[in-house]
Parts: sequence; C-alpha cells; structure tokens
Amino acid sequence: MTHPVLTALGLSEVESGTYLGNGEWSKTRDAGVIEPVNPSNGEVLGKVHASSQADYDLILERAQAAFKVWRTTPAPKRGEAIRLCADALRKHKDALGSLVALEMGKSKPEGDGEVQEMIDIGEFAVGLSRQLYGLTMHSERPGHRMYEQYQPLGIVGIISAFNFPVAVWAWNSFLAGVCGDICIWKPSPKTPLSAIASMKICNEALKAGGFPDIFFLFNDGGTELAQTFVDDKRIPLISFTGSTKVGRMVGERVARRMGRSLLELGGNNAIIVDPSADLKLAIPAIAFGAVGTAGQRCTTTRRLFVHESIYADVLAKLVAAYKQVEKKIGDPTDPANLMGPLNSSDAVDAYLDAVAKAQAAGGKIETGGARIDRPGNFVLPTIVTGLANSAEVVQTETFAPILYVMKYSTLDEAIELQNAVPQGLSSSIFTTDLRAAEQFLSSAGSDCGIANVNIGTSGAEIGGAFGGEKDTGGGRESGSDAWKVYMRRQTNTINYSNALPLAQGIKFDL
Ligand code: UN1
Repeated sequence: MTHPVLTALGLSEVESGTYLGNGEWSKTRDAGVIEPVNPSNGEVLGKVHASSQADYDLILERAQAAFKVWRTTPAPKRGEAIRLCADALRKHKDALGSLVALEMGKSKPEGDGEVQEMIDIGEFAVGLSRQLYGLTMHSERPGHRMYEQYQPLGIVGIISAFNFPVAVWAWNSFLAGVCGDICIWKPSPKTPLSAIASMKICNEALKAGGFPDIFFLFNDGGTELAQTFVDDKRIPLISFTGSTKVGRMVGERVARRMGRSLLELGGNNAIIVDPSADLKLAIPAIAFGAVGTAGQRCTTTRRLFVHESIYADVLAKLVAAYKQVEKKIGDPTDPANLMGPLNSSDAVDAYLDAVAKAQAAGGKIETGGARIDRPGNFVLPTIVTGLANSAEVVQTETFAPILYVMKYSTLDEAIELQNAVPQGLSSSIFTTDLRAAEQFLSSAGSDCGIANVNIGTSGAEIGGAFGGEKDTGGGRESGSDAWKVYMRRQTNTINYSNALPLAQGIKFDL
C-alpha cells in the first residue's frame, strides 16, 4: 500500500527518478531501481527508477538550451519564478515535512523546519534578485570607467546528502535560479522520494507561472552517472554535500577540468562551556546539538570541552537530559518524539563501531552506547568521557549521536583543542564573560566557518554564509554573498574619451 504521506504529495509507489524537462518524467525502466527504506521499521517505501545515460544526455542538452533563454531573463523576473516555488512549498510544508521525516528519519518538527529553510531561502533569493551587485571602481586613466558585473554561470550540478534531503537543494538551486543558472540535481539514493516531491512541487509552480524549466533531476542507480556528472565540462559548478572522503574526490576531479566546486563536507563541531556559562542555556543547546537529527547533521555537536571547575555538574546534568531524550525516541513522524532512527543499518554499524573503538581506547560510556532492541535503526544517544581529543575516534566524524566530553583548565587550551581536528565547520562557546567570547571570536580563536556564542553548533539560519574550513571543504552556500559562486564575475573598463592612455603609465608610441 502506498504510504499516505506519499499520497498526500501526489506520489505513487513507483516513480521515475528522472525529470527531463517539458513536463516529462523519463520512461526508463532498465537502469536500476532505487528502493528507499523507512528507517523506522525497515519497510521499503517505494520504487524509484534510476536514470539512464540517454536520460542524462537529454537533460544536459535541454539544460544547455534552457540556459540560453534563462540567462537573458531579467534577474527580478527570475526572482518571481523562485517566489512561486517558495509559495508552493509553503502550501505543501506539512506534507513535504512529513515525507522528509519518513524517508530520512528526522523528527517531524525538524522535517517541517527543513521545508521552512527552503521557503526562507526562496524569499531571500527573491530579494537578492534585485541585489546582484557588482562594484564600480575609479579608473587610473582619464575619461575611463571601470566596473564589475556578475553574469549567469551556466549549468549548476547539485549533489546532495540524505541528512538534508531537500533544504540543501533549495539553498543551491534557488540562489542559482535567480543568478540565471540552470540546475541539475542528483539527490542521495537514500532519499529520492523527497527529491521527486520537491521537484514536482517546484516545477508545477514554475509551469503554472509560465516559466521555463530551470530545475532537472536524475537518480543514479550506481555511481557511473554521478562520475560522468562530476567530470562533465558542460557543468561549470558542482555543489557537493557529503563526506570528506567523497568530497575530496569530487573536488580533485572538478579541479582537473578547471571547474568550480562548492564543497560542504564533514564537521567535528565542539562546544566550549566556560566557568561563567549559563547552564540553563548550555545544557539544552548541547543536547539538541548532539542528539537532534540523531546526530546526523554536519553541524552536530560531537565534542564538548567543559571547564574543570564545573565538569562534574555539567556531566550530571547532561546525562539527566539524555535520559529525558531516551523517553522520546521513536517514529519520527510522531511530533511528540525528539529523536528518530539513524538513516541506515550501515549507520548503526558505524555507531557501534565508534562506541567499541571509544571503549577500546579507554573511554567510558556515561550513557547510551547501544542499539535499541526494536525494528528500525534506533540507537541510544551516547556520552563518552575519558578520551583525549587526539584519540582517533574523537578525530573522526561518526554520523551518529555520540558526544565526547572532555575537561580543560584554560581557555587558550580549550580553543586549541577545539581547533585540533581535521574539520572546521561549526563551533560554539557558552560564556557570560565578554573577554572569553571575544577571544573565541578573534583571529586567534575558533578556526571554523561558523562560530557562535551562547547558542549551539547546529541549526544555522539561512541568512548567513554556511560552510567551513579545512576538511570541511571551504565552500559557502545559503546567505550573505554566497550567491557569487553561482555567477561569473566580469571586470569591464570602458573608454569613450578620444585618447588611448595605457595603464601603469606605459608609453607605446607608434
Ligand atoms: C547539514 O547538516 O548538511 O545548521 C546542513 C544546520 C542546518 C544545516 C545543516 N541549518 O544544522
């Protein structure tokens, strides 16, 4: 039986995973089948027919043709197209949020929150469509004028991960859309239905508004098409969200063909709790950061540095908070639950493996540390103490709710430890001491792309640029001026004077 959440979105049990443009979904039936599984009970949710090479070729051909039209459409008009998408998403927020919860396994409020991020970035993009500003410069030559303009880039390839199966696409495609680009999306094979539903909602809204196709979709049954995608010279930008391991490969391959890549890779995010911290704020923030989305955000809190003077108190309070969470683990589509399952049985294995490694390295499991004996991929949120920051398992991002709690004595030491990992995505300090906060935010402070004071590491707002340094990949997407990556910058120097002075005072008299 088709799950009612799918029915609510007009999806059936068997779907094509390829949107070819012109309102057409591919009829390919021989390129493999993807079967997304409900992580809460192991049941197959539906069948998605993967895309063929011929589908891919047709998408590229149509995307190239679409770009020729879209790049000359005025940017505010492009903004109008995105406004329609955001409006349509608002209408479908409840149903799409439920599908995200069902297919990915995050809680219903978090699923809805993800759709809200799509709506928010859509609105941001509408405003942006009138603000794609370049600078004007003063020329060193008389009668000359200099300025820069941002032009549409072309086709943007988006490869997204299972943990944010819809929002990350919207961050990229809505900005790229107002920038005049055409987007081709390859979603995670774990969450194809959320992708298909999002495409249907947005493409129907575009069509009803008289807009051309700007969003295409394919699903890869294996990895071959994804590799073709990454290597395709017709795609000037590949935006990749996923593991550092795969992201490194993507970055290297795209660089080899002189393409541009936007990489949003792993995090190993820490919170520092100093002696002046307000624990009424810190404890729930740590719990949400470490346990929210069952530890499957790239911004999840994975390490905690607590000042030695308050260590025992903080640990006891946290363990008590975790015990509360344990009572609310279950079906993520039930809004009463705070934590759902891990997305796959592989993730459960990775969790168990990390717990075993932590113990082998001398770590103590303060709470959790086991899978829950029931159908689905449920595990207990876990706190480990007694390990050094340098322990291999602490240095590694395990996509699961495991928090390593460590003691420190000086803030210098805590900042150094927080920075001493390969990744550089998100970080926070809890303090009411201005000096400590400013030190954390200074050039000698956190080395991450995101550094917060008195809020957790996850749950970033769309208005800021999102991304991180080092093994996190260096990309920035979403707010601020992240739009610039979707455009090509052109510097224009214009001379309507009656002389031809050369720059740098060079004389070239003929
Ligand atoms: C991700 O985990 O891939 O900051 C993105 C957050 C979200 C985005 C996370 N807004 O938690």
